[in-house]
Amino acid sequence: MKLLFSLILIFTIAFNGAYSTKSFDQSNINTKKSTESCFGESFVGFTSSYITNSVNAFFPGNNGENPEQQLFSETGLISYDYVNQLFYSNFYENNIKANTTSSGSTYIFGKNNTEYYVPQGSSNCYIVDQEATLPSTLPSLSPDGNSVIGVTPVSVFSINDPKMSSYTAETILVTDDCTPMIYSVGNLRFQPTGEGLTNFFYYSPSPASDYFTLPSICYNPLPIESSKLSKTSRTILNKFN
Ligand SMILES: *[C@@H]1O[C@H](CO)[C@@H](O)[C@H](O)[C@H]1NC(C)=O
Ligand SMILES: *[C@@H]1O[C@H](CO)[C@@H](O)[C@H](O)[C@H]1NC(C)=O
Repeated sequence: MKLLFSLILIFTIAFNGAYSTKSFDQSNINTKKSTESCFGESFVGFTSSYITNSVNAFFPGNNGENPEQQLFSETGLISYDYVNQLFYSNFYENNIKANTTSSGSTYIFGKNNTEYYVPQGSSNCYIVDQEATLPSTLPSLSPDGNSVIGVTPVSVFSINDPKMSSYTAETILVTDDCTPMIYSVGNLRFQPTGEGLTNFFYYSPSPASDYFTLPSICYNPLPIESSKLSKTSRTILNKFN
C-alpha cells in the first residue's frame, strides 16, 4: 500500500537508529512472504481508524503540485477497496497553520473518477473531482530492520515512493500478521525539518462495503474546487502510492 499504503538527513538516521536492532539480520525477515501476504495478490483493501500528526512534514501537493510541508492533527476512519477502486474516509482535521478545522466524509469511486465530499452535519454533498484516481499499484517495500512497539514485535519497512524520495523517508511498521501499527514520514534535507506519525487502531485487512454507499444527498451534488477540500483524504491516499 502506499501506506501501506505512503512512510532523512538526521531524521532518517535517528529514526532508523531508534527502530532497528543492531543485530538486524535481513534473513530474519522473510521479506518475500511478508510483502506477499501483506500487500501481495491477497491484499484487497483495509479498514482502519487512525490518528495522524504532522509537524512540517512534506506531503504530496494537490493535483500534481510540488510537495508541501503540512502542520496538522487529524483523526479518522478509512476504508479502502483496492480491487474495486472504492475509498471512504470520515475525518476530523485541525489545520494548525491555517487555524481551521474541518470534518466530513469523502467518497472516491475510481472506476468513474468521481470524488464526493459531505461536510459533517451538512445537508449538502459536493462533487469534488471528476478526475479522481485511486492508486492502481501498491508501493514497494524494502526491509529496514525490526523493532518492538510496546511489547509487540514489528518489522520495519521503507516505502519506495518515487514522487517523494527527494523530500522524505517513509517507513511503515507492521506486525507478524501484517497489521500496520505506525506509518512514519521524515523530511530529508529541506528546511525546516519536519516529521509526521500515523498510528492505526482497529485495523481490519478488508474493506467494509457498507461505507461505500453514496448518501442520497449526493445524487444532486454541488460542484466544488478540489483546492477547497481538506487535504485529509489526500494525506491518507498518498500513503498508498
Ligand atoms: C484561530 O481561530 C479562532 C477561531 O476562529 C480564533 O478565535 C483565534 O484567535 C485564532 N488564532 C489565531 C492564532 O489566529
Ligand atoms: C460514480 O459511481 C458511483 C458508484 O457506482 C455512483 O454512485 C455515482 O453516482 C457515480 N457518479 C457519476 C457522476 O457517475
